[in-house]
Amino acid sequence: MSKFEIWTEKYRPSKLSEVKGQDEIINRLSAFIKSESMPHLLFAGMQGTGKTTSFLAMAKEMYGDNYRDNVLELNASDERGINIVRTSIKDFARTKTVTENVPFKLIFLDEADALTKDAQHALRRMMEDYTSNVRFCLSCNYSSRIIPPIQSRCAIFRFQPIRKDVMKEVILSIAREEKIDLDHTAMDYIYDAAEGDLRKAENIFQATTAIADKPSDSIPGTMRVTINEVREVVSFAEPTELYEILKLGLSGNFKASKDKLSDVLVKYGLSGADAISQFQKQIWNSEEFEDKLKVKLIKSCGEYDFRISEGSNEFIQLNAFLADVNLIGTNSRFQNRDSNI
Ligand SMILES: Nc1ncnc2c1ncn2[C@@H]1O[C@H](COP(=O)(O)OP(=O)(O)O)[C@@H](O)[C@H]1O
Ligand SMILES: [Mg+2]
Repeated sequence: MSKFEIWTEKYRPSKLSEVKGQDEIINRLSAFIKSESMPHLLFAGMQGTGKTTSFLAMAKEMYGDNYRDNVLELNASDERGINIVRTSIKDFARTKTVTENVPFKLIFLDEADALTKDAQHALRRMMEDYTSNVRFCLSCNYSSRIIPPIQSRCAIFRFQPIRKDVMKEVILSIAREEKIDLDHTAMDYIYDAAEGDLRKAENIFQATTAIADKPSDSIPGTMRVTINEVREVVSFAEPTELYEILKLGLSGNFKASKDKLSDVLVKYGLSGADAISQFQKQIWNSEEFEDKLKVKLIKSCGEYDFRISEGSNEFIQLNAFLADVNLIGTNSRFQNRDSNI
């Protein structure tokens, strides 16, 4: 096992057919390659679901060995700004393609949703100007942050979070390759921590192998990775602690829930977004909360997740979330009382 190779790169599929769990997308992209014609593309979806990988694999299949000459990769959140993006695009688009069978070159613009509205309008004009010999593939987390005139010029592909069976298949095949005996419970824990992001799962797994020090009993010549190693690398609040915070909030102990949350955030190094997402998971999985209560709490998680993702102060938002939990608790107690009368 090489400690110096990053697994997310080492195990990046180089063919479209090797991209897992996005079958419909892969079929549609393969059809474009076959027909040698293609509209502009918009790839939307969370991190680590195969957007960049699919683009690169598609480019390789289209251009073969010439692919580097026909592809320009840019990141829209580059701090040098849209002007650099514009100049690079112009320089690239001006020259003709170097393959015979594909009449256009490809520009991949990652994090396109980081562009301001004005920059997106500039981009839309470029898409129109260079349509004769360039196709754009824009990648973003949220398609709603892309202006409608760009959306309407693109075929939209929505990458789904990686399902458990798919993530398991990929991680276990890496385990075989790297000679690691990965416990079932450790695999489940990696899946929970990765939240649909395969890059994150691979990174967590690779990090565990740096601290794994026990040879496997069952598979000779391999190292064993258990839930203990995974726990060590994942900063991940224990479900019982988060559950306790929710229950404190629901029962009206606002201050206690707030203090406990501060402790948990520091102890596990969680961000605001991590905390909300963990809370959401706890609420879903609770056997104690009634459906009506779950609905209200989940709705609230959505609201605060959105506010945090828009850049609001996360401590203020987390406290506001707990205040909401408190109010929901109060109301549901009243509701219960009413319904008993
Ligand atoms: N659908 C997938 N199938 C196989 N591997 C994947 C998939 N999605 C992500 N990965 C793994 O995660 C890494 C990062 O994926 P990438 O395509 O860069 O994600 P993003 O959607 O953020 O662009 C890849 O190099 C690969 O190892
Ligand atoms: Mg990417």
